[in-house]
Amino acid sequence: MNDHRPTIGILNDGAAVSRAAAAALADQIRADPGSALLLPTGQTMLDVYADLVAIVRAERIDLGRVQTFNLDEFYGLPPDHPGTYRSYMHEALFDHVAIPAANINLIDSAATDIAAECARYEQRIAAAGGIDLAMLGIGVNGHIGFNEPGSDFATRTRLITLRDSSRAANAGRFGGDADAVPRQAATVGIATILEARRILLLATGGAKAQAIHAMLHGPITPDVPASALRLHPHVAVLLDRAAASLI
Ligand code: GLP
Repeated sequence: MNDHRPTIGILNDGAAVSRAAAAALADQIRADPGSALLLPTGQTMLDVYADLVAIVRAERIDLGRVQTFNLDEFYGLPPDHPGTYRSYMHEALFDHVAIPAANINLIDSAATDIAAECARYEQRIAAAGGIDLAMLGIGVNGHIGFNEPGSDFATRTRLITLRDSSRAANAGRFGGDADAVPRQAATVGIATILEARRILLLATGGAKAQAIHAMLHGPITPDVPASALRLHPHVAVLLDRAAASLI
């Protein structure tokens, strides 16, 4: 097994991490205006999208050919429910920049046949020519997307049962009520993530320090899904000092 060493950037604080991540996204789009981007959600990313909107507006970057794919989505919610990642993405990014609706790809949270929906999503990624840049956060349990611990590295987009810790971490958009967070989600798989040409993972705050340590220095194992990223030759990890405190 090839154990690559990700490029690691340690910045002073979360704001610096967001700015650097937004700059990396903007660089990718300038270099290839038809880029296919894999995009995450979560608290960490809100500032990244705000910073990206500011850059796109200030520099009048054309997003008309960009294609976006979201990493994951809760299952069993109406698409316009405020807890869906579709709603999150519209609030954080899509309502503020001009990405054509046809270029925005999201997993349908209300699909009746979720297996067919996941297969359709994989086909859309393939039809886009694969992912150029995958941006990722990390869960406190080492998940990427919603690939929870135990996820095989050969996994594709599929339905998964969420751990209680992940439901608790996502309670914010459900009025703080972890019980209101769906028990299942669909996520792009680890094999799909590893096929991206480049990967950028961000983490801020001391709550992520253990997961970052395990990802970078522990065994490469499905028990720590993010450790799979060491199988990829082009991974950059951006951390604030707190998230980097154990490495
Ligand atoms: C959710 C998402 C993940 C994300 C994680 C971290 O669980 N499904 O893709 O990485 O949140 O989010 P936060 O930035 O809020 O800690």
